[in-house]
Amino acid sequence: MITVKDSCMFLHTNNTTYSFGVMPTGHLEHFYYGKRISGSDSTGLHTVDAGLREQNEFVCGNSIAYDKTHSGICLEDKALEFSGYGNGNINEPSIEMQYADGSITNDFVYVSYTIVKGKKKLQTLPSANGNKDNCEQLIITLKEKEHEVYVYLTYSVYEDTDIIVKSAIVENKMKESATLLRLMSNQLDFCEGKFVFHTFNGSWATEMHHNTTPLSGSRLVNSTYVGTSSNRANPFTMLATPQTSENFGDCYGLNLVYSGNHYTSVEQSSYGKVRLVSGINPQSFSWNLKPNSQFEAPEAVLTYSADGFNGMSKNMHKFVRQFIVRGTWQYKERPILLNSWEACYFNINEKKLLTLAKAGAKVGIELFVMDDGWFGHRDDDTSSLGDWDVNKKKLPGGIERLAQKVNNLGMDFGIWVEPEMVNEDSECYKKHTNWVIANPNRTQSLGRNQMILDLCNPEVQQYIIDEMTKVFSSGNISYVKWDMNRIISDSYSQYLNPEQQGEFFHRYYIGLYHVLNTLMSNFPDILFEGCASGGNRFDLGMLCYFPQIWGSDDTDAHERVQIQLGYSYGYPQNTVTAHVSSCPNHQTLRNTELESRFNVATFGNLGYEFNLSDLSATELDAIKEQVKTYKQWRKTLQFGQFYREKTDIMGTNLSCGDIDGTISWTIVDQNKKNAVGFTYRALTRPNNFFMCYKAMGLEPQTQYHFYNKEFKRNIKEFGSLINMASPVHIKEGSVAQSVAEKFVKLGGDKEDAILYGDRLMNAGYKTKQAFGGNGFNDKTRIYKDFASRLYFMEAIEEDCN
Ligand code: DGJ
Repeated sequence: MITVKDSCMFLHTNNTTYSFGVMPTGHLEHFYYGKRISGSDSTGLHTVDAGLREQNEFVCGNSIAYDKTHSGICLEDKALEFSGYGNGNINEPSIEMQYADGSITNDFVYVSYTIVKGKKKLQTLPSANGNKDNCEQLIITLKEKEHEVYVYLTYSVYEDTDIIVKSAIVENKMKESATLLRLMSNQLDFCEGKFVFHTFNGSWATEMHHNTTPLSGSRLVNSTYVGTSSNRANPFTMLATPQTSENFGDCYGLNLVYSGNHYTSVEQSSYGKVRLVSGINPQSFSWNLKPNSQFEAPEAVLTYSADGFNGMSKNMHKFVRQFIVRGTWQYKERPILLNSWEACYFNINEKKLLTLAKAGAKVGIELFVMDDGWFGHRDDDTSSLGDWDVNKKKLPGGIERLAQKVNNLGMDFGIWVEPEMVNEDSECYKKHTNWVIANPNRTQSLGRNQMILDLCNPEVQQYIIDEMTKVFSSGNISYVKWDMNRIISDSYSQYLNPEQQGEFFHRYYIGLYHVLNTLMSNFPDILFEGCASGGNRFDLGMLCYFPQIWGSDDTDAHERVQIQLGYSYGYPQNTVTAHVSSCPNHQTLRNTELESRFNVATFGNLGYEFNLSDLSATELDAIKEQVKTYKQWRKTLQFGQFYREKTDIMGTNLSCGDIDGTISWTIVDQNKKNAVGFTYRALTRPNNFFMCYKAMGLEPQTQYHFYNKEFKRNIKEFGSLINMASPVHIKEGSVAQSVAEKFVKLGGDKEDAILYGDRLMNAGYKTKQAFGGNGFNDKTRIYKDFASRLYFMEAIEEDCN
C-alpha cells in the first residue's frame, strides 16, 4: 500500500515500511526503512512526519550550508533519498552528470508524484513482473535546479512478499547533450546504525562464499568490472546488524536485476549516517545523453526482515519465484538430466552418446543433454565457436536423428551452445573479424582461446538470433544450456564511435537482452539453463530469461555444500542446478560418498554428469533408487521453502564434545505437509557420537512421520578393522575381501519415528550413536568425512472420527 500525505510518502508491505518526505529545500529526506510502522493513514493526533524528520537548526563545523534561506541544512549530514553532488553534498552520489559547460554539480529537487496500480516495465532492460493485483508503483519526478534534466524514481511495492523494487530513469529535455557518468538504481540511507556488510565472493569453481565485514569508517565496496555479474562478487548482498543470526535480528537483502558490471557500496559518515548505493558500476562508464533521450538504471530489489537471514531469504525466494522467473517453466517441475560433459568432454559421437543415454534411461533419467563438442570441428576448446553447423563425422544423422533416438529411449533431448563467443579458428571470425570485442590497434587477449562477439552491433545480434533459431529448430530439442566461458577484457566495440566507448559494457547487455527476449518468445517451451563457466553470471537479470542456472563447475560434494549455501541466501533452490559426478572428483580429486553427492545435489535441481556406462551394478542400483526418491520428493525439494539451521561447514567451533561444524537445512512444502531435512559434516572425529537434527518451518501441532532411507555398508569401508568381527582373517585387497564384499552387507542407520512438529523444531531429533572407534552394530550410524543424510517428514492426517 502506498500513501502520500503532506509530501510524506509511506510504502507499506505486510511487514515493512519504507518512508521519505520532501524537505524545505525540495530534496527528499529518507525517513525510515524497517519493520512496519503506522503511516499517513494513522488516526493519531500527531502530524504525519512527527519523529521521522531530523530537526536541523545549525550546520556542523567545517561543512557547507545548503543556501542562505536554509542556512541550517547541510546535505552532507542528511539521510537522503537521491543524492547529487555539490552545494555541500559530498557523500557518494546516486547521479553524476557533466553538462555542456563542463560543470558537474547536480542538485535534484522534488516536482511531483504519481501512483499507478501494477507497474511500468523498463524499455531496455529486464524488469520484475507485477500487475494491478499484486503490485503498486510510486513514481517521483525530480528536476535538476539549473537544467531541464529530470529524474524519475520508481518504487514498486509488493505487499505479500515484503519487497520494494526501485529504479531511476534520467531524461534530458535540454537542447544539448550531457554526459551521464553514473546513475544508481538504489540509494538507501540510515540516519544511524551499526551494520555488517555481507557479500558472496569467489572465483571459478568456488562461487558464493559468504564474507562478512563490519562497517566502520571507510567505504566497503562489492563490485565487478569483468563484464558479467561475476563469480568474483555476486550482486546479491545483505546489510544486517552485528547480532543478526539465521532466525533473529534485522536483515536487509539487496539485489539488482542486471547481468553486467555492478557496484554496491556502503559507508558510515563522520556523523554516523550510513549510505548504501547500488547500480551499474560507474568505473569507465559514461553515456552520451542526447536531447530528448532517457537512460534507465536497472531495477534494484530490496527486502527487510526482522527474522534474521532466514526471514530475508524467505522474502527473496518467494519474490524471485513469483516475479523474476517466468514462462512455461516458472512453476513446472524440472526434469532429472544426464549431461555428457564430465563423462565424455569433447570426445563425443552418436554411438557414445547413445550408450550413455541408454544407461541413463535404465536408471530413470528424464532428459539427456549433449554438452560441448558437437559442431564445426570442435575436438577441443581451440576452435569452431561461432560456426553452429553440426559435425557430421560425429553425428552423421545430425541433431534430428540423435534427438529422435534419445526420445525413443523415453527421454527428452537437450543441447549445449555458447552463442556469444567466437574462436579465431572459425568461418564466422574469418568472415567478420570486426565483429569481436577488440581494439584492432592493440594485441587481443584470449580467454579459453576465445573472443567475445560484439553484442552492441545489431548485425551480430541478428546473427546470433538466426543461428540459434536454426539450432533450436534442428530436432526435437526440449532443453538448451546457454554457456559463456570467459570474462570481458579489452573492452572496445568496433561498432560504436570513439566517444561512445564508455557505453560499451552496458550496450553489450542491452544487446544480449534483446537476443534473449527474441529467442525466448520464439521458443517458449524450451527449458533454458544459464551457465557462465558455472556461476560467473548468476543474477536476477539472467533469471528473467533462464529459469535455472548451473551453479558451479565444481561438482565436488564438499565444495558444493558451501557454494549452494551461499546461493541459498538470495536465490531459491530451484534456480540452482546441481549434479552428481564421479569420484575422484574432477575438480578436486576428492572422494566423497555417492550418497553425499546425491544428497547435496537434491538441494538444487538434480542432474547427473558422469559415465554411467562405467559404473558397477551396485552403483547403478543405488542411482536408480536415488532417482526414484528424487521424483517422489521433487515438488517439495524444488518449490518448498528452504531454511538454514546450522551453517558452520568449517567446524570452527569444534572443541571437546562440541557437535558444531555441521550444515543442517530443511525444505518444507507450501502446505507444510512434507519436508526434507539435510545434514552434512566435513570431517568426522572419534568420540564424537551424537547429532541432533532440528527441522524448521513445520506446523507445530501436526504429527510427522520422520524417517530416512536405510542403506547398506560395504565391508571394504572398514579396512582391516573387519577382522575384529570376521571369523576368518580378511586381508585388504584380497580375493577373500572381494567375495565377502559381495555377500556381506552391514546394516545402515535407520531412523523412524512419529513426532510433533514443535518437538522436531525445538528439541530436535537425536539420531543414532555414530561410529567413533569404540564399537559397531546395526544400530550405529556411520558418519565419515563428508557424510550427509536426508530425513523425510510426512504429516500424518488426523483421523476426524
Ligand atoms: C563450461 C561449463 O560450465 C561446463 O559445464 C561445460 O558446459 C563446458 N563449459 C563446456 O565447454
